Amino acid sequence: MRTQLLIGGQWSDGADGDTLDVLNPATGELVASVAAGSSADASRAVGVAADAQKAWAATPPRQRAEVLRNCWSVLLDHQEELAQLITAEHGKPLVDARGEISYAAEFFRWNSEEAVRIEGSIRTAPGGANRIIVHHPPIGVVVMITPWNFPAAMITRKVAPALAAGNAVVIKPAPDTPLTALRVGELLEEAGVPAGLVNIVPTNDAAGWFEAAVAQPATRMVSFTGSTQTGRALLKVASGRVLRTAMELGGNAPFIVFDDADLDAAVEGAMVAKMRHSAETCTAANRFFVHSRVADEFTKKLSAAMGAVKVGAGTDPDVSCGPMINEAAIEKISSLVDSAVGAGATVALGGAKVDGPGHFFEPTVLGGVKAGDPITSEEIFGPVAPVIPFIDTDEMIAHANDTEMGLAAYVYTADIGRGLSVSERLEYGMVGLNRGAMSDPAAPFGGMKQSGIGREGGSEGIYEFCETQYIAAGW
Ligand code: SIN
Repeated sequence: MRTQLLIGGQWSDGADGDTLDVLNPATGELVASVAAGSSADASRAVGVAADAQKAWAATPPRQRAEVLRNCWSVLLDHQEELAQLITAEHGKPLVDARGEISYAAEFFRWNSEEAVRIEGSIRTAPGGANRIIVHHPPIGVVVMITPWNFPAAMITRKVAPALAAGNAVVIKPAPDTPLTALRVGELLEEAGVPAGLVNIVPTNDAAGWFEAAVAQPATRMVSFTGSTQTGRALLKVASGRVLRTAMELGGNAPFIVFDDADLDAAVEGAMVAKMRHSAETCTAANRFFVHSRVADEFTKKLSAAMGAVKVGAGTDPDVSCGPMINEAAIEKISSLVDSAVGAGATVALGGAKVDGPGHFFEPTVLGGVKAGDPITSEEIFGPVAPVIPFIDTDEMIAHANDTEMGLAAYVYTADIGRGLSVSERLEYGMVGLNRGAMSDPAAPFGGMKQSGIGREGGSEGIYEFCETQYIAAGW
């Protein structure tokens, strides 16, 4: 297990000798003590990255692509080991942790294919005096702040396109889950990523670390996944140097079920959209708008499916919902459930935290929730499904859009025309139509409104890490 900072291909303690403790959220036990970097370490890492980036940017795209393809296969070769690490520090069931590694590795395969297809253009200026040549060089050094809910995949989703485009990166992994990040960094070097291109510097001092990294002249971009609140704070700091930013922020996903939908399929999709990775995803269904003609039946079927979920430590093969990341998460979920019940919701299933050790919450279904109740305006990030019956489609869409968030939405109906027209009216960057899963390295992941800036994945993703240069060429 790697527990030191990775800077320039070397492992070291932080300049201040500081450490952070990684706890297993299923047991509260110490997994490891990890070196915690200071602002001096962040600055040093940016300098090292800037040096390494020059040679990498000059490396032919085909060669970069081959290194990335190798990263895909090396990560898969270590799938079991990485999955065990994720489960130890994050808590998610091993089956999900294994799935996360396939997902994480796929960002490398996809971006190895994109590395050789960065397009430019040439056209004649309208006045005829010159040609307009447009091309896309790399940006330089990208500072990345990554979350705990996907300790591997939220790193590779950023690193793979950044490297494909010819950049170097400095990563601050979440303090709850630095072990996976450090091991992924080590494996990328084993796969042929030159030393200094991927630097990983966990810290206890997120604000000081970030300010120092952003202040370095070589830093040209910030890429962040996490809450909208933190995203706003980072944007303020990054604006001081007018840096490019890519932000994957919070969600408040509506899951809409029309009365013609196949209810069993809708419940199956709901279980994925709600419970995937222990319900700790920003795409998680947060509000279930169900036509009142089928609301009772849907609630009953969803409660049966949620009731069959075994909650416990991710190492138990029968468990499909692991612990929440910490006690603060449990307190937030409890208070949202209490406020919904206080506002008149009925508890169809669950409703309470599970006694420790560990941070567990019962899979919960709430019936008769009203649009506008506090639980409908906050990202729950836990295994709670509030069901809001609706009659009028226009009114329901207005409620679904009545939020500053706009990441993911889901629609279930047998009428594909209605499904598409409702999807187009939803102010969300991604819509699952008769599908509870939408995440795919080959598709542009990202949100509208305060859910983010930019897209990760798809053919769009690599351009987030590219500059645009125009040459007015006369010949
Ligand atoms: C996230 O929760 O931040 C990402 C979810 C996903 O990639 O599916």
